[in-house]
Amino acid sequence: MSILLISSSPNLEGSSSRALAQELAHSLAGDGRVVVRDLGANPPPHLDQETIGAFYTPEAERTVEQNQKLALSNELIDELFAADAIVIAAPMHNFGIASSLKTWIDQVARIGRTFEPTGQGPKGLVTDRPVHVVTTRGGVYGPGTPFNHLDHLEPYLRRALNFIGLEDISFIYAEGTAKGDDGIQAARAQISQVAEAA
Ligand SMILES: Cc1cc2nc3c(=O)[nH]c(=O)nc-3n(C[C@H](O)[C@H](O)[C@H](O)COP(=O)(O)O)c2cc1C
Repeated sequence: MSILLISSSPNLEGSSSRALAQELAHSLAGDGRVVVRDLGANPPPHLDQETIGAFYTPEAERTVEQNQKLALSNELIDELFAADAIVIAAPMHNFGIASSLKTWIDQVARIGRTFEPTGQGPKGLVTDRPVHVVTTRGGVYGPGTPFNHLDHLEPYLRRALNFIGLEDISFIYAEGTAKGDDGIQAARAQISQVAEAA
């Protein structure tokens, strides 16, 4: 069992999402391994014109410079395909995902590698592995709460992962972190249940 653990909090110390996702990843891995991709420590760069050009250049026609531009994208995509399951730590930033997680999505949503066009629209290629998202937030916006419409993190992340073929996605919420530890304890209980069920 190989678990890809993706963290996106810029807080390298004391990050609640990183700690909770680590717990889940190690529980799921058992005797297997956890591959860590820390986007908070090393945020992927924003896409630039050269990188986008390289995305859309057929492999056989790419220049050395274009291949260099694609190196990180290739590495991130290879990690996705090598994983049996994926755990994502996603703190809410300004009602959505952290910017490092957005640049990761921009680097991995790639034509010919993680999706391909078909007559019926784009088809995702990273299939058959579950994704567990641990999301922390200072406020309370989870399913069934009055301010759920302000949660742009869950619907956006779900759609973006669906786009590259990931359909089996579950969310664990640690809410109200600004007000105390209750949300974190509730998330811990959920993590134990998910780990037991796996
Ligand atoms: C830049 C920034 C933006 C944030 N935006 C929101 C927000 O829109 N809604 C919210 O409830 N909490 C927001 N928070 C609070 C974090 O979601 C909360 O502190 C969370 O527990 C952070 O997780 P971490 O400890 O893993 O970094 C924000 C925090 C930061 C640093």
